[in-house]
Amino acid sequence: MSEKIILTGDRPTGRLHIGHYVGSLRRRVELQNAGGYKDMFVFIADAQALTDNMDNPEKVRQNVIEVALDYLAVGLDPEKVTIFIQSQIPELTELSFYYMDLVSVSRLQRNPTVKTEIQMRGFEGESIPVGFFTYPISQAADITAFKATTVPVGEDQKPMLEQTNEIVRRFNYIYGPTLVEPQILLPDNAACLRLPGTDGKAKMSKSLGNCIYLSDDAKTVDKAVKSMFTAPLHLRVADPGHLEGNTVFTYLDAFCRPEHFAEFWPEYESLDALKEHYQRGGLGDGKVKKFLGQILQQELEPIRTRRKEFEKDIPAVYDMLRKGCEKARAVAAATLDDVRRAMKINYFDDAELIAEQSKRFAAK
Ligand code: TRP
Repeated sequence: MSEKIILTGDRPTGRLHIGHYVGSLRRRVELQNAGGYKDMFVFIADAQALTDNMDNPEKVRQNVIEVALDYLAVGLDPEKVTIFIQSQIPELTELSFYYMDLVSVSRLQRNPTVKTEIQMRGFEGESIPVGFFTYPISQAADITAFKATTVPVGEDQKPMLEQTNEIVRRFNYIYGPTLVEPQILLPDNAACLRLPGTDGKAKMSKSLGNCIYLSDDAKTVDKAVKSMFTAPLHLRVADPGHLEGNTVFTYLDAFCRPEHFAEFWPEYESLDALKEHYQRGGLGDGKVKKFLGQILQQELEPIRTRRKEFEKDIPAVYDMLRKGCEKARAVAAATLDDVRRAMKINYFDDAELIAEQSKRFAAK
């Protein structure tokens, strides 16, 4: 069997939306179904969510189940993937504590994700909570505790993976080969890398109200598609349309497959042909939106239906999570044993140490 170990996670700060879906969830399900890996872990990063929601524990608590339901709804299968909750694995905090010795304050300050988040949240200078400031270190613990080789995430997580690899190299250099350097696995198409909100704004975000959630009903999705941002200069159907910044076409890049044309719009044979006509002029936004709506509904309908099923038995979802936590904990504990041995803090397991010291003190 391959030594590939896949791991990724999400902060439970809201339900998951189609940006998460094309950016990572869809890929995870493909990886899961392709098999050929040694282990796969997907987890809910509640402890990380608390680093900037410390005053809102109820929000995090309620969204743990929402994210778990979204995972099951998209087709993650607990028989094939270990799904767990970060805070239930105390080994992760212990690892983070040791890794803190390997990272400088200035290195954390240079982390671009931390930098922008600090600006976005309006933390200033010394008012930054230490836990928030050091979350890249905790993320390195999340990844290395499971000896993950492959981390499917969005582009925004690149600095976190770089930070993790630096910690791994430093650790292995000082204490001997113990930890594994992970590789990032990014979506392979630009539209999926960073799906804009329905308003064309940079990113889907709950506060901007520009999301389409995986759990939205059909009517809500239709409404969102109809109101989507397209091309401001495309006033009359006959006018040439523009693709740049045209959210409907960005979504088509992310969702449209060749067979959608045969099924919904046989007049065109490919997305390129459709784009060509749109740019030439004579193709109205309404028609393109209708096509996108059909594609989205087809993709989202089975997800919605599965979610409804899982919602009927919430205790079973918690049971699944509890089992996942138990399994994840055992794996993290084994890594922590390796780490303690490498760092020479495994006193009670080290018979040699005790024997050697006994001899030394007897000879005095
Ligand atoms: N930072 C990730 C996010 O914002 C969540 C996360 C926490 C994660 N730990 C991780 C992702 C480890 C991948 C690997 O969604």
